[in-house]
Amino acid sequence: MKVGVIGQGYVGLTISLYASDYFEVIGFDSNTKIVNQLNFGNSHIEGVESSALEKNISAGNYRATSIASELMHCDIFVIAVPTPLDSKRQPDLSYIEAACKTIGENATRAVLVINESTSFPGTLRGFIKPTIERYSKKVFEHHYAISPERVDPGRTDFNQKNTPRLYSGLTAEASARTRAFYSKFCDNLVEVSSPEVAEAAKLFENTFRQVNIALVNEFAQIAHALGISVYETLDAANTKPYGFMKFSPSAGVGGHCIPVDPTYLAAVAEEHGAPATFIRRANEVNLEMSEYIVRRVAEDHGGNLQGKSVLVVGVAYKPNVADVRETAAELVIAHLRNQGAVVSWHDEVVGHWKGENSVPLQGADIAVVVTKHASVDEEKILASAPYVFDTTGKVKGAKGL
Ligand SMILES: NC(=O)c1ccc[n+]([C@@H]2O[C@H](COP(=O)([O-])OP(=O)(O)OC[C@H]3O[C@@H](n4cnc5c(N)ncnc54)[C@H](O)[C@@H]3O)[C@@H](O)[C@H]2O)c1
Repeated sequence: MKVGVIGQGYVGLTISLYASDYFEVIGFDSNTKIVNQLNFGNSHIEGVESSALEKNISAGNYRATSIASELMHCDIFVIAVPTPLDSKRQPDLSYIEAACKTIGENATRAVLVINESTSFPGTLRGFIKPTIERYSKKVFEHHYAISPERVDPGRTDFNQKNTPRLYSGLTAEASARTRAFYSKFCDNLVEVSSPEVAEAAKLFENTFRQVNIALVNEFAQIAHALGISVYETLDAANTKPYGFMKFSPSAGVGGHCIPVDPTYLAAVAEEHGAPATFIRRANEVNLEMSEYIVRRVAEDHGGNLQGKSVLVVGVAYKPNVADVRETAAELVIAHLRNQGAVVSWHDEVVGHWKGENSVPLQGADIAVVVTKHASVDEEKILASAPYVFDTTGKVKGAKGL
């Protein structure tokens, strides 16, 4: 069995490595720099060890390519390309369309196509299948399935093996083939009755997180206005053994999933005349947190940040990863600069971002902690400026939410 995985990012490379213990895997990516790096055995993804990559390359079970014709003998295709929002913040399926074109034009037999990219219900049936058929000119009766990815980059307790995986095919045959594929390296497969249920479940999981994060961010503002500690209050609520799940306040949500996926759900809801009130408002509350934080910092400085040197500590969207997609740090920095502050940032995990480099953790008037990597010393953060505002709740002794 030959497996072609379209997209070698967080999701695609992770699945490629697991699958290449059992199948011959070709990792296809349009980015030739990534492909070259991968073929030298260098992983660019947290949680995918270069040593594991090297082992599977040496065994002849994995190689990366940007040449689509090398996919022609594949039996299974996995789609793992980005599903961002377009400039109007609407679902952008252009990467999925390009992946479908690659599959449609290069498959030389009836194959199983599994989509792992996150998208709205109906994407497999109403977009992926017809698009592949259009490009393949309907020569083959391919099988189609969805199995949304749940990987949490940087996480070690849950992985491909022990995270339950949802799946559903457009036909019983597609479901059975999908089960056979994943059962090699995933212990718990959960079949649902239709691809639409699997697609919707993935969106709802991330919407649940988005809405609860917004709720706790709003509550942080209420707690501050009431003069009580948000953290102590949340810990107190969390002593209830049932019916409560603790979320923590922050500068906002980041990454490719939480700020994006709920908008896919909202878009499809509104298209069908259903309300998406919570989802839309939660998005706004999370986006507004950066402005609230800068307002709090300014209030502590007589309402004026003009000319102050501000060091933003941690620009990755979450601890211990280099991923800056949709990071809340971007909005925090923009609001600080709008107030006339002179902003630099410290994040050695990220290193270089938007044409700027990480600067040393020292010598600022103000430090604002957006993301606290494990490798960054708390004492050093406190010593980096006479005033430190921590949005993470992890720097004891700093001002904070
Ligand atoms: N990152 C996560 O934690 C996560 C978790 C669950 C689901 N997802 C979903 O999985 C999908 C992929 O996300 P990701 O984080 O792996 O993205 P990514 O940006 O890390 O990787 C995508 C890769 O696809 C490549 N690519 C883009 N267009 C291509 C094309 N036409 N042909 C071949 N390669 C192409 C890019 O060069 C990139 O290397 C998205 O739908 C995302 O929402 C991501």
